[in-house]
Amino acid sequence: MQKFKQTAAFLIADAVKNIWDFGDPSVDVWKYKDMLEYPPDTTMGDLAFPCFKLSRDLRTAPPKIAAELAAKINADPDEAFSSIVATGGYLNFKIADASFERILAEVEEKGEKYGSTGTGEGKTIVLDYSSPNISKPFHIGHLGTTVIGHCLKLIHEFEGYKCIGINHLGDWGTQNGKQIVAFKRWGDREKVEREGIDALVELYVKFHEEAEKDPSLNDEARAEFKKLEQHDPENIALWKWFIDVSFKEYSVTYDQLGITFDSYNGESFYSDKMAPQIEIMREKGLLKLDDGASIVDLEEYGMPPCLILKRDGTTLYPTRDIAAAVYRKNTYDFHKCIYVTSSGQSLHFAQWFKVVGLMGYDWNEDLVHVPYGTVSIGGAKLATRTGNVVLLKDLFRQSIEKVREIMEEKNPDLENKDEVAEAVGVGAIVFNYLFNNRIKDMSFTLESALSFEGSTGPYAQYTYARTCSIIERAKAEGVSAAKGSLTAPEEIEVVRTLAKFPERVNAALTEYEPSNITRYIIDLCTAFNRFYHNCPIMNADDDDTKAMRVRITSAVNSVLGTALHLICMKTPEKI
Ligand code: ARG
Repeated sequence: MQKFKQTAAFLIADAVKNIWDFGDPSVDVWKYKDMLEYPPDTTMGDLAFPCFKLSRDLRTAPPKIAAELAAKINADPDEAFSSIVATGGYLNFKIADASFERILAEVEEKGEKYGSTGTGEGKTIVLDYSSPNISKPFHIGHLGTTVIGHCLKLIHEFEGYKCIGINHLGDWGTQNGKQIVAFKRWGDREKVEREGIDALVELYVKFHEEAEKDPSLNDEARAEFKKLEQHDPENIALWKWFIDVSFKEYSVTYDQLGITFDSYNGESFYSDKMAPQIEIMREKGLLKLDDGASIVDLEEYGMPPCLILKRDGTTLYPTRDIAAAVYRKNTYDFHKCIYVTSSGQSLHFAQWFKVVGLMGYDWNEDLVHVPYGTVSIGGAKLATRTGNVVLLKDLFRQSIEKVREIMEEKNPDLENKDEVAEAVGVGAIVFNYLFNNRIKDMSFTLESALSFEGSTGPYAQYTYARTCSIIERAKAEGVSAAKGSLTAPEEIEVVRTLAKFPERVNAALTEYEPSNITRYIIDLCTAFNRFYHNCPIMNADDDDTKAMRVRITSAVNSVLGTALHLICMKTPEKI
């Protein structure tokens, strides 16, 4: 609809300039152009211009302004619109049927690229997401970073950016020291080989329980980490093994989501890249000693100090992030580097982004933190340090099993049931998660995610499969899509919704907000299903109508497929 908005805005600006003398040449009539709205009731029009702001500027009643604008514009209208009418304080624009016809042509012409502006050509975006801490559970709290991060990568790629997805593994820090202590004290190699990450998590939980009683264990953990930093062979071997064991687990979930990364350089990768950056901080006089630790004071910027080195000289999470950012700038020359984490880390990012700026790197402006809210299941908060967490693999497994049960009942003859159940089961969770504004805390229930009705993944995938079966039937019956005039309001509503796709992609990109696309998918499915129920497609009265409706169905199939892929969803053709 962006093009129609631009055309309408141009007509309005031109008319305003010609009718009124603001007595001030600096008044920018273009400022009214962003005020165009979609009327809630499309029988009024496709676009509406509220005249209230203009009314205040001109000290004239809104209905009078709307009427004058209508008269002026209608004297020389644009063929994109079939009518331009003043109603109360609004000027309503109706898009001409022929213009809708052009949207279908555009969808056909651009195919999988429809909705992309290609503005990212020649620019690189680095995305740092998922990034679990090794030997710790990969749980529902990681769902956000993993799917929002990947979705932002797909959207940027769609817009033409070159994207580098980085899994910044938490593989360096005192927690690794804790894991080493726990294994050396209570670990059983065979058990870990057999049970994988679950056994490591058990050890980690035990460490915390024991450390409550005997805090000296924490000192022991720091000492083991220090040995790791000094390349002690035994600790290095253990640590590498913990990474392998952990990764086996993550891979299952990444495969189900269809996610791979371009780099798995975790925190350890930067262990030898911090010293030169610490040196710069020192040279610039940024480092201060605070009880033996080295910090950057950020009081002036309203933030607590950023910790760079601990008293024992070991590095910290922000130190590694700073070294990583410099390395990424040098390696990829990014246009932006995007970090997706829970909002609990917002201060951490604000702090070290500031430090990077103080170090003299002006590209700190291109570092973006994308935070998201907490996730709970059925209302219960998730804790990491206790054994009481919902693992992603369990959540996915349960969802897939339930879908499988539903399928046995609804469509027992379906081929490749396992594949479809996985696509729908995992997709249901992804969709449910990405439907919400990312910053809002959310509570999750499997029942609501798995419903085949309402704003759910299964509903969207089912609608997609419906378009596939119509297209298949049309092919079998030798009906090919063809132009034809759109008359039913349901037909027009589908095309109107198709026209909105590019701006929803753009909103998702600029707001780093995938829910723009998820919600769009529901709008498109709703419009399509209304059309499907009210306008017979393959049983239409005449061949021309049949061909035109098949054409609409094909366009929906194409755009819905693109949109679902952009939010990491698979698109089975039969469900
Ligand atoms: N490993 C961290 C965690 O689980 C997230 C890392 C995010 N990325 C970063 N560059 N700090 O909390």
